Amino acid sequence: MDIREVAVIGLGTMGAGIAEVLARGGLQVVAVEADPEALRRGMSILQRSLDRAVSRGRMTSDEQAAVLGRVRPAGGFAEAAGADLAIEAVPERMEIKRQVFAELDRACRPDAILATNTSSLSVTEIAAGTQHPGRVVGLHFFNPAPVMRLVEVIDTVLADEAVVTAAAGLAARLGKTCVRVGDRAGFVANALLLPYLNHAVTLLETRFASRADIDTAATGGIGLPMGPLALLDLIGLDTALSILEVLHGELGGSRYQPAPLLRRLVAAGRTGRKSGRGLYDYGSESAQPAAAASDIHNGAGAGPAVITVTGPGASPGGELSAAAASAGITVRTDPAEPSDLVIVAASPAVPVLAAALAAGRPADTVGLHLAGPPGGTRLAELVPTRLTSPAAAAAARALAAGLGLTAVQAPDRPGFLAGTLLYPHLADAVRMVQDGYASAADVDTAMTLGCGYPRGPLELADQAGPGNVLDILQAMHLAYGDPAYAAPPLLAEHAAAGLPLRG
Ligand code: 3HC
Repeated sequence: MDIREVAVIGLGTMGAGIAEVLARGGLQVVAVEADPEALRRGMSILQRSLDRAVSRGRMTSDEQAAVLGRVRPAGGFAEAAGADLAIEAVPERMEIKRQVFAELDRACRPDAILATNTSSLSVTEIAAGTQHPGRVVGLHFFNPAPVMRLVEVIDTVLADEAVVTAAAGLAARLGKTCVRVGDRAGFVANALLLPYLNHAVTLLETRFASRADIDTAATGGIGLPMGPLALLDLIGLDTALSILEVLHGELGGSRYQPAPLLRRLVAAGRTGRKSGRGLYDYGSESAQPAAAASDIHNGAGAGPAVITVTGPGASPGGELSAAAASAGITVRTDPAEPSDLVIVAASPAVPVLAAALAAGRPADTVGLHLAGPPGGTRLAELVPTRLTSPAAAAAARALAAGLGLTAVQAPDRPGFLAGTLLYPHLADAVRMVQDGYASAADVDTAMTLGCGYPRGPLELADQAGPGNVLDILQAMHLAYGDPAYAAPPLLAEHAAAGLPLRG
């Protein structure tokens, strides 16, 4: 199947991005959008993105003109008559998708491939409603489509193998890497990403941590390119909500149940970057979310001159003690000796309070957990307990600032902040492999190329050690009782056998 001309239906953020990818790949593109205002907006998204590529020296103005010359804006489906492939990227509602595919059935040649960029709806259900279900396939791009290198190719029991192969071949021709999967809610990436994002909204809503700290924990503590709340604004809160609703409908469970705050923000029209306001405020077009680093917890006052370092991670040459000593702070290990502050070098599987009580000076004691890739930038998770005094909490913030560490604050609950976000996410990924839906390699490819993770979740779990992941999940499960935190048997087996999850 030779694909030269592609119709893109719907010119929102994703449709415009897909049209750009196709035109940059040398294909002729028919950009179909019935609403003239939406068509104009979509074309200006495309124009702006190409302008940026030119201004960054990635493309010449001549190339830009050639790319734009390959995109033909169209106000109706009739213009898709010559397309070898049509990709729809309309809003995530089954009745709208059905309508679009009925139009495509009428407008396109019977041998044209019809693809949906749906992020969560059933491709099988969409295909079953068409005249030639064998030619319908899922081609799921990631936002921003010109940048993210993943395309999920979704097969159905109705699809012709040649159609799926041709669709995957096109994606590869466009420089994308394909992960081919069956038709299950959320496919690989969204089924893993959305519950993690939803969890972040819950943490914000329940005042577990501040907005800035949640995002900083993900970037500084896990190494992700964006924090979950900033990413929700990029994806669109309305889109995220509809994906979660589909996931919750198909899979059930607390991880997929949309956080009430997410629903309220969508109801209020605060849908993210595209509306100028979501979890963050985007006052002007160039506005970025508020600086990710917490300005509340850093740079506070003069730091302590003498500290005591104790607790599970407090070996005499421990990272924290060494950093404090080289900053000229006197470091003691016996809490009976006087000091300005007691730091429990904390582990996210062990409560700080127990160590604080054992040290005998709970009001002076704060937990501190260094998160982040070893050797990379480290994030200080500050963990005051129920008994920590405000003065000690402030001294701990000043200590972190004095040591040049970005700090976030979390309550004394298993996982602290980065781990509370990360470990259930890793459990979801292990469960997906355990279910036989995708291989460990495909899960990691999807999350690295689709969501910009530096390492996929299975590799992250191997890096942390399956036994450590298991310990923290068990502590979280015990503390919260939520079955979502129950460790998947596959993880327990790898931990017991001492085998990595990526064989
Ligand atoms: N459109 C086009 N290009 C864009 C862009 C956009 N909206 N945003 C950024 N870019 C380009 C820039 O021009 C730049 O290109 P260059 O390297 O050629 O100069 C490159 O991307 C890097 O951009 P920046 O330097 O401005 O910014 P960052 O380095 O911070 O990267 C990011 C931005 C690529 C968005 C990065 O933060 C990232 O990978 N974030 C994660 C995004 C993600 O998870 N996406 C998936 C969401 S889920 C989804 O889409 C599925 C759907 O079904 C919901």
